[in-house]
Amino acid sequence: MRNKILDYFRNAHGEYVSGQRISDDLKVSRTAIWKHIKVLKERGYVFESSTRKGYRLLHAPNLLTELEINSVLSTESFGRHIIYRETAPSTNAIAKEEARRGAPEGTIVVAEEQTGGRGRLQRAWVSPYAKGIWFSLILRPHFSPLEASKCTLLAAVALVRAFHQAGLTEAGIKWPNDLLVKRRKIVGILTEMDATMEEINYIVMGMGINTDVARVDLPEDLRDKATSFLLEGVRIPRKELLNLILMELETLYAEVETNGFANILDEWRKYSVTLGRDINVITPGYTYSGKAIDIDSDGCLLVETDHGVERVLAGEVSIRYKDEAAQ
Ligand code: BTN
Repeated sequence: MRNKILDYFRNAHGEYVSGQRISDDLKVSRTAIWKHIKVLKERGYVFESSTRKGYRLLHAPNLLTELEINSVLSTESFGRHIIYRETAPSTNAIAKEEARRGAPEGTIVVAEEQTGGRGRLQRAWVSPYAKGIWFSLILRPHFSPLEASKCTLLAAVALVRAFHQAGLTEAGIKWPNDLLVKRRKIVGILTEMDATMEEINYIVMGMGINTDVARVDLPEDLRDKATSFLLEGVRIPRKELLNLILMELETLYAEVETNGFANILDEWRKYSVTLGRDINVITPGYTYSGKAIDIDSDGCLLVETDHGVERVLAGEVSIRYKDEAAQ
């Protein structure tokens, strides 16, 4: 109901809307409308009221609340169930808990800020208030658990597609889970799974997208390694970017459920900034260097070394740019 009421004001583009008209159209009392507007005010919406003309919306908060996301969402199922927190330790942790409790596929957990955001290899993920899109998506796929790691590649392709539409055309994918712009990280993806040998119970895909992060928001050691839409000079409201991302995730996921991952891996190759480069591979056991030549049908990175081709399933890769030290 609250969203329907907000739609009236959004469609009026700052003009007055009479409370009587909303109440007649939606068949609810004037008092009920007034109560909804009161709640909206408490949530940061600013209205002007006139006894003769009704209300007009002066300002909507720049937050990723359910109401704000719903105002632009054009997916079928992804993001149709939203769990919103102003502050959360980690959206992945909440999503896993909700998935265990039976949350439907397509549920997203969104936070304005994370106090314990996590990346791969247990690293911290800096997630300042309303300066990025920090969210996790719950999936319940029918494919084998052996295919699950390719979801990270799927997410990376979806993000590049969405970024292109948003006007950020320089984003490339660093294997397996980073998006870089001019060698600096703008996105990290953390995919986690609960499965038996035979089937997946759920996958949680967590994505951290730096939208409004400024240099001062980053710890000093990350200032030359990270970037954001703001720092790249591309402006897009966070809710609209989230909608583009969810649209692309939904499209690619439907493609996988019917045709498998082959086309997505091809697209991944196209956007990769790792393939064709000299790299260092850091695995728990040992570190070596070589040239990244391809990914195989499992999404593993193939690295040509002096001793033959190595297949990297998991690990840390750093690119050795010719003009600077490895990143
Ligand atoms: C990485 O680069 O290692 C992955 C970073 C993933 C960060 C996102 S932000 C939303 C979700 N919640 C988390 O705690 N982590 C992921």
